[in-house]
Amino acid sequence: MESLNSHILHVLKDLPDVPVRAPLLKAFGSHAAEFAAIEDGFRSLTSRRHDTKTLRRFFASWSQTNNSAMTVAGISNRLTLKLHRGEPVRDPLALLETLTALHRISDEDLAVTHKVLHSEMFYNMATGIVGDDEWLLHRYLDPSAVEFKVWKDHMSLREADVALGLMTTLSHEIYTHGEVEFILPLFTQWLIGHYDFSEEDTLRTLTWIRVHCGGTEKRHFFHALDTVAHYDRAVGIDWESCDLEGIVAQYLRKKSAVLQALFSVCHA
Ligand SMILES: [Fe+2]
Ligand SMILES: [Fe+2]
Repeated sequence: MESLNSHILHVLKDLPDVPVRAPLLKAFGSHAAEFAAIEDGFRSLTSRRHDTKTLRRFFASWSQTNNSAMTVAGISNRLTLKLHRGEPVRDPLALLETLTALHRISDEDLAVTHKVLHSEMFYNMATGIVGDDEWLLHRYLDPSAVEFKVWKDHMSLREADVALGLMTTLSHEIYTHGEVEFILPLFTQWLIGHYDFSEEDTLRTLTWIRVHCGGTEKRHFFHALDTVAHYDRAVGIDWESCDLEGIVAQYLRKKSAVLQALFSVCHA
């Protein structure tokens, strides 16, 4: 079975020589311990049945590490706020191109190009596996998942330099490509082997994972790359202060903390 980061590295190796290529390759090519913790977490989840509380904790917390449409929308607002406030923009047309590329990341999530909201697909998956929708309650959130979300929102919406939000989005989209490709076979054999789901029910329940596989997240990553290039023309990116390697490191550290926290409980 292919490892999570090899899905990511395949895509990164084929990139043209853009400024983000080297830092992304270096960052996703390291952090073996974080990748191992994430993979172990998903393997542990899908290796057996769990009690309802563990499943509620898992889906409540994992959901916080996935939702990106609202963050993308928030970054879009920040970009047009620049125009609204009359902040200096080197090339307003390039800013429109930035927005045009950025919005393509959330078309499917918001059901703009497809019929069903991704939040609804996630709801159906989690509720179908847990057996009820109490996983939506905040009491089931692990503090590590809250920390992940607070950090990602801070990077995307609060840091003064919007470029940091774009770099965080770039990291998120390519990471997510690896995660969904890695977990689809695990979740499939979990539901069939441990929860006696029929093949048809498994396909339906895992729609959320399936629609993100096979190129969807890869395409989002390429839209994120275009967004960065247009933004660089529109406003100018200070590459010296943009620590993309550090952003990926933080992302993986915080993501692996979520899986570790959930599955140390699971093993207890
Ligand atoms: Fe989505
Ligand atoms: Fe995405």
